[in-house]
Amino acid sequence: MIKTKKINISYQESENPEELEPSMKEMIEAARNSASNAYAPYSRFRVGAAVRLESGRIVCGTNVENAAFPSGICAERNALSYAISNFSGDMPVAIAIAAINEQGITEEPPSPCGNCRQVIAEEESRNGKKIKIILSGKNRTLITESIADLLPLQFRKDNLKIILP
Ligand code: THU
Repeated sequence: MIKTKKINISYQESENPEELEPSMKEMIEAARNSASNAYAPYSRFRVGAAVRLESGRIVCGTNVENAAFPSGICAERNALSYAISNFSGDMPVAIAIAAINEQGITEEPPSPCGNCRQVIAEEESRNGKKIKIILSGKNRTLITESIADLLPLQFRKDNLKIILP
C-alpha cells in the first residue's frame, strides 16, 4: 500500500533586526557589504554570502556573472569555496545571505538556489555539523538551523553506494 509521509521543516522569522543576536547582525552586515562587490551586470541582482567559521572568522563571497550565463556562480558557493580553499580545518557553522537589487537591499530575504543548497548540504555532511542559514531582507530575517529545512530528502554520498550487477 502506498503510504503518505510528511516532512516537517521549521524556521524562525524576525521582523525586528534589533532582536537578532550580535553575531548574526555582524554576519548580515558582512553579507550586505559583500553584495555591493558583486559582479552582476546581467541580472543586476547582487548577492553577498558571509560564512561564519568555527574559529569565529567570517569569509564572504559574491555572485560573479559571465556573458556565457552558465559560467556565472552564486555568492554562497563562492563564499564556501573560499572558506574550504583557504581555511580547510576551520568548519563553516553558519551562512548569512543578503541581496541588493536596483532599489537597494531587497525587502524580502533571498533564498539560496538549488545548486547552493546542494553545496551547503555537502558541507554539512562533510563536517558532520549543522550549518545555520540566515536569510536577510529589509522586512524580515528567516533563520533555519540546518540545510535539511531547505533541502529535504537530500542526495548524499550514501546514495552513491549503488551495487552494480
Ligand atoms: N544568485 C546567488 O548568488 N545566490 C542565489 O542563491 C540565488 C541567485 C545569483 C545568481 C545570479 O548571478 C543572480 O543571483 C540572479 O539569479
